[in-house]
Amino acid sequence: MALTLDTYRLLGRSGLRVSPLALGAATFGTEWGWGAERDEARKLFDLYTGQGGNFIDTANTYTGGSSERMLGEFARGDRESLVLATKYTTLRRPGDPNSGGAHRKSLFASVESSLRQLGTDYIDLLYLHVWDATTPVEEILRGMDDLVRQGKVLYVAISNAPAWQVSRMQTIADLRGWSPLVALQIEYNLVERSGERDLIPMAREMGLGVVPYSPLAGGVLTGKYTRDDLTAANDASGDGTRKSFNLALGTLTERSLAIADVVKEVAAELGRSPAQVGLAWALRNPAVTAPVIGARTPAQLEDNLGALEVDLTDGQLARLDAAGAIDLGFPHDILASDHIRTVTTGGLRIEPRR
Ligand SMILES: NC(=O)c1ccc[n+]([C@@H]2O[C@H](COP(=O)([O-])OP(=O)(O)OC[C@H]3O[C@@H](n4cnc5c(N)ncnc54)[C@H](OP(=O)(O)O)[C@@H]3O)[C@@H](O)[C@H]2O)c1
Repeated sequence: MALTLDTYRLLGRSGLRVSPLALGAATFGTEWGWGAERDEARKLFDLYTGQGGNFIDTANTYTGGSSERMLGEFARGDRESLVLATKYTTLRRPGDPNSGGAHRKSLFASVESSLRQLGTDYIDLLYLHVWDATTPVEEILRGMDDLVRQGKVLYVAISNAPAWQVSRMQTIADLRGWSPLVALQIEYNLVERSGERDLIPMAREMGLGVVPYSPLAGGVLTGKYTRDDLTAANDASGDGTRKSFNLALGTLTERSLAIADVVKEVAAELGRSPAQVGLAWALRNPAVTAPVIGARTPAQLEDNLGALEVDLTDGQLARLDAAGAIDLGFPHDILASDHIRTVTTGGLRIEPRR
């Protein structure tokens, strides 16, 4: 069945209604060497919201603050109908150790800065952006809860953190009556599926909606790269696209191109674009609430929104799953073995909780 941007989904263990595709605003601004100038970014925003899209993703430091500033400007006039998500923890001022990190001083200063840049008096969803491996979790949770009580933040969430820490945080938040984490934002796509080991099952168990970022592996799953691009390493730097960044990040590899080939085959069978198939794979995963789409141009965004209409057959899903499958490793392999199942269930068939 075709979805639409106004077929809203509930975000994790909350009543917040969000579109099934979020709009990534990391392309608002060109300070990172790729992205959209202001007028193009405005078109991306208008195209997305014009179809009922309400879930927009940014971060305090995206494109040096341009992303939040543009988003705030575009959202003016219709602020209330949007779910604006932003993030804290990345360093805002080089050389100032407290201008980044997960601690209370960084949290409060970053939120004040985001409120100013966005030109709003509240943030709908605030993510901890990157785990800093130093701040006690109680300090983070209590600080987040204080911001919620002050009305500056409505919901809190987390990104780029180990599963065991997130589940510990959620348990502490529950026991103390602090605001729970309602979303987990992770890199998740047909090329990067590590989240299937622990992060995604943890999120389902603990009530966090899964919000995948880089759903097209930085553009690799659109099928626009070839094996030649693996060697033409730096030719693209400064051309306004993500190519050199994808190479530097290790996203553009022989393995990812082989997965993109399978996506292209399925796309050809459906008469759809590879980008739509790559996104449809994430979108139809029952654990996923809303992939965050990245688009630099209105044409890319229109293409990506077409994923809402794509129905994959069971056979096509199985081929896509097989192309990027990972070894889940211990203890998942032993827990799935017949021997262990027999020991724990007495040989009865018991369906896992969904
Ligand atoms: N929490 C985090 O740490 C984190 C990290 C990364 C991203 N994010 C969020 O997730 C959003 C999306 O991430 P992402 O930008 O990595 O997503 P992505 O969709 O994997 O990659 C986006 C890039 O793919 C290319 N692309 C997208 N659609 C295309 C199409 N239809 N045809 C051809 N090329 C296409 C464009 O590359 P070119 O520019 O080369 O054309 C675009 O810049 C970001 O905006 C941000 O909000 C969060």
